Amino acid sequence: MMQCIVDRPNVLGESPLWDYREERLYWIDIESKQIHALKLDSGEYAVWSVPSRPGSIALHDNGGLLVALSNELVHFLPQSGKIMPIEGTRIEGGVRFNDGKCDSKGRFWVGSMDLKEKNPIGILYCLDNKGRLIQKDQEIVISNGLGWSPDQKTMYFTDSPKRILYRYDFNLETGAISNRRIFAQVPDDAGYPDGLCVDQAGYVWSAHFMGGRVTRYAPDGTIDQVLQVPALCPTSCCMGGKEGNQLFVTTATRDLTPEQLIENPLNGKLFRLELNVKGDKDVPYKTLK
Ligand code: BGC
Ligand code: CA
Repeated sequence: MMQCIVDRPNVLGESPLWDYREERLYWIDIESKQIHALKLDSGEYAVWSVPSRPGSIALHDNGGLLVALSNELVHFLPQSGKIMPIEGTRIEGGVRFNDGKCDSKGRFWVGSMDLKEKNPIGILYCLDNKGRLIQKDQEIVISNGLGWSPDQKTMYFTDSPKRILYRYDFNLETGAISNRRIFAQVPDDAGYPDGLCVDQAGYVWSAHFMGGRVTRYAPDGTIDQVLQVPALCPTSCCMGGKEGNQLFVTTATRDLTPEQLIENPLNGKLFRLELNVKGDKDVPYKTLK
């Protein structure tokens, strides 16, 4: 059974991230412009405010986090609260940064989304190890759900309103992606695919926004397992914990009616489930500058 581990609801909880260095779980609340952190053993809980809506976070090699704020990528140090903008990463024009994640070489992949959630004006970028923001794909409505296969030959990427999870051929050495094709398509009555993570067996765990579940896909795109989440709007998931076998699931309340919120007080909360498979540690963003 999925267990609620933080009783406080998020408006748009997102981007769960296990920090193996500090052994704590980070996540964000996009609409509240907040970053949250929880130590599982002590229950120590912290919240920071950031100046604009964050879309995603990753670990940073020089300590703290890389944060994709609404229109700029920044290096954030939780201890001091210091925010250092990363030069040359500003985006403009009816879009904001959304989901992002580091590949195993420590490059940060992040996509943008149409603020109206309608038009394909989003772009997929990669912040390389020299701090250059490089355009990798385009015509995306809402960038979401990124991950890599354990053999590093495949990159997964999600466009939520299209209800599609894509796969690309991935070149780990150069960071090139090619040959985009459909990995899985979510049926109309199952919500929208949002954040995802990949386990060590190469299976993909994808959260269904408005679909109340997380689906585990086999590497060939077939459905292996469906986990019910006790909240209607799961937004993302990650693997972590000391052993790497805990699945953490963030959820949202933003799009729910007052009736739906009263009916189920678990909406918007954070959940954990112990699995019998592990996930790799998240690699911090690495800058060679
Ligand atoms: C975005 C939301 C969007 C949701 C569902 C999230 O990642 O931040 O704005 O509504 O995905 O597609
Ligand atoms: Ca998301």
